[in-house]
Amino acid sequence: MLSGKKILLVIGGGIAAFKSQDLIRRLRERGATVTPVLTKAAEEFVTPLSVSALAAQKVYRDLFDLTDEAEMGHIELSRAANLVIVAPATADLMAKMAGGHANDLATTLLLATDKPVLIAPSMNVRMWEHAATQRNLTTLSEDGIHVVGPDNGDMACGEYGPGRMAEPASIIDAAESVLLNGPLKGKRILVTSGPTHEPIDPVRYIANRSSGAQGSAIASALSALGANVIFVTGPADVAPPDGIEVVQVETARQMMEAVSYALPVDTAVFAAAVADWRVKGASDKKMKKDGQTLPDLQLLENPDILATVSQMTDNRPKLVVGFAAETDDVIANATKKRERKGCDWIVANDVSPETGIMGGDENAVIVISDTDTETWPRLSKAQTAMRLASKIAEALS
Ligand code: C5P
Repeated sequence: MLSGKKILLVIGGGIAAFKSQDLIRRLRERGATVTPVLTKAAEEFVTPLSVSALAAQKVYRDLFDLTDEAEMGHIELSRAANLVIVAPATADLMAKMAGGHANDLATTLLLATDKPVLIAPSMNVRMWEHAATQRNLTTLSEDGIHVVGPDNGDMACGEYGPGRMAEPASIIDAAESVLLNGPLKGKRILVTSGPTHEPIDPVRYIANRSSGAQGSAIASALSALGANVIFVTGPADVAPPDGIEVVQVETARQMMEAVSYALPVDTAVFAAAVADWRVKGASDKKMKKDGQTLPDLQLLENPDILATVSQMTDNRPKLVVGFAAETDDVIANATKKRERKGCDWIVANDVSPETGIMGGDENAVIVISDTDTETWPRLSKAQTAMRLASKIAEALS
């Protein structure tokens, strides 16, 4: 059953778009709410009015529709669903998804979402078998995109073979299995995120720059794959994802305590930008400047949470993932950091200001283990998170 589930349904421009209307009806019969999005090409095959009537919802059509942007921004729309279904997924939509394009509403939503995505490809058999489409299919699968179909059969174009969109009943089965039986079902995963604030006095603090965007996207992606996520976060700019256990902390020592309390877990992902030092004897009153003497701040080292958990003999998670934000010699520095801390993987990135990664929507990471160094392309933080969640699911399987 899909009762209470919210589905964002992207309808691409193919002859199978007419079957998506049946899909809407069946999804609603199972208790799901369907928000439809039509590509421009889809409007050649189905009318916004009929789709809207079947879904009993507004149809979203164009990225630059300012009324829609005022009601619900595209980022919000992409995140409000539990699952995004693309049916039919044309060769062109698949190529745009694989390439990370975002030049209309549908592709922008697909790039911005942090929720699982299920595609139902539909195209001519030669287009399906073309090396480019197969290459895109491999990329999409590696990015954690779920695929249902296509089926074999007679096609509208008169040819026979794989390329027919899966029947609505099969798409619903696939949707249920993505939503209810993710590969991380039953796994308990801890994620730390955001900065920590180390007080100097009640109004001043030391902190690292961190929006919490990547940590939040990772928690969301792990949860979308069925994990039971415990999210320990410092004071971040980005709100924690819905539907997971959140523990709010302020300082590194509080974060260490919350992490210890959350153990045992199957995996721990340390995405927080923990302050290395705290102020010795922080004042409980606001310090005054007197124009003569400067405050004599002495620093103490904070606990290294990642190293502590990585080096535990009891209770060590099966997989410990750390992050390394570097500005030079990224691979060499991150490799040394992985060894020094004792974690299994380090997700390294170059946070030099010119990369725009810090506080931005995208990330370009290198995942380093004791056997491998994988350089991932520049992706949205949501996609980087989905890819990392899929890799974790594979490692735990
Ligand atoms: O040593 P550095 O801060 O560069 O290491 C980064 C990694 O270590 C991140 O995964 C971060 O979450 C973790 N870390 C930690 N506790 C600290 C410092 C860093 O868990 N005190």
